[in-house]
Amino acid sequence: MLGKQVAFDEPLAKHTSLRVGGPADALARIDDRDRLERVLEVCREYQLDPLVLGGGFNTLVRDSGYRGLVLRLQGLRQIEYRDGVLHAGAGTSHSSISRFCADQALTGLEFAASIPGTVGGWIAMNAGTREREMADVVARIEVVDPETGGVEVREREALSFSYRRTELPRSEIVAAASFEIEPGDAEVIQQITRELLESRRETQPVDQRSCGSVFKNPSGDSSGRLIEAAGLKGARHGGAQISTIHANFIVNRGDATASDVLALLERAREEVAGQFGIELEPEVCIIGEEA
Ligand code: EPU
Repeated sequence: MLGKQVAFDEPLAKHTSLRVGGPADALARIDDRDRLERVLEVCREYQLDPLVLGGGFNTLVRDSGYRGLVLRLQGLRQIEYRDGVLHAGAGTSHSSISRFCADQALTGLEFAASIPGTVGGWIAMNAGTREREMADVVARIEVVDPETGGVEVREREALSFSYRRTELPRSEIVAAASFEIEPGDAEVIQQITRELLESRRETQPVDQRSCGSVFKNPSGDSSGRLIEAAGLKGARHGGAQISTIHANFIVNRGDATASDVLALLERAREEVAGQFGIELEPEVCIIGEEA
């Protein structure tokens, strides 16, 4: 009924950038909007509550995996620029957008070159840097309500963005987003993008498996600075390590489990709370039941 693009007992480690975590009961690959609608229909019929994994960039799946159906929207990656607005499907990756903007000489989204993820994930997390975030550039999003199958357009004003968070009714699925960006100077855009990527390469472990920033930055400070100051840069647990390049990243050295990563996350939280009285809050989405 769900067809060949559904895999059962599918290891989610294969679908996340950190490459850890147990299996999902089922995982459906979504190639287009029709398929999304059909899969959601089946979910309604069987009362399944699907979980959208996005690109799996900012996600930590526990070793127990996920009991339910996971959707990957990687097929929703159409991208087009019309009348001052860039439209992109939820599955479009950061690298495709950066390339598109650089090729078409569009300015406004350069900052996003430094944030690994897909459009759907960017919106759900209000992804950003210190200077800019999605809330500054998104014009509207298109969501699908899994309960009715209805498609709704939500204008920026109707979205409550806060730091690394966007209030969407839990069940709504971001299918696409439109960004207000404008024509610019191709050389300048390419130069800015190149510089950002270079600086990311110098300050983040881009060649290693990670889930991006583990913690949100506490107000006025930086989680990376605090974890380093707590003496944890380079600390290991099993196959996981607090990055020696940026302490707000945990890297998988090859054979890490989710428990290894969680142990380091807890250690960082405890040490920073104990030494500096600051409670770090995870940015990474943690999926699955505790064993
Ligand atoms: N720092 C340290 N030690 C470290 C790491 C950082 O002292 O080990 C200091 C740096 O020297 C700097 C400050 O902490 O003064 C901030 O670090 P950085 O500029 O690297 O930025 P960040 O706040 O850690 C944010 C985003 C990143 C994004 C960069 C782009 C958050 C939580 N993270 O990182 O986003 O790539 O800015 O500049 O807002 C992500 O969200 O997954 C992500 C990668």
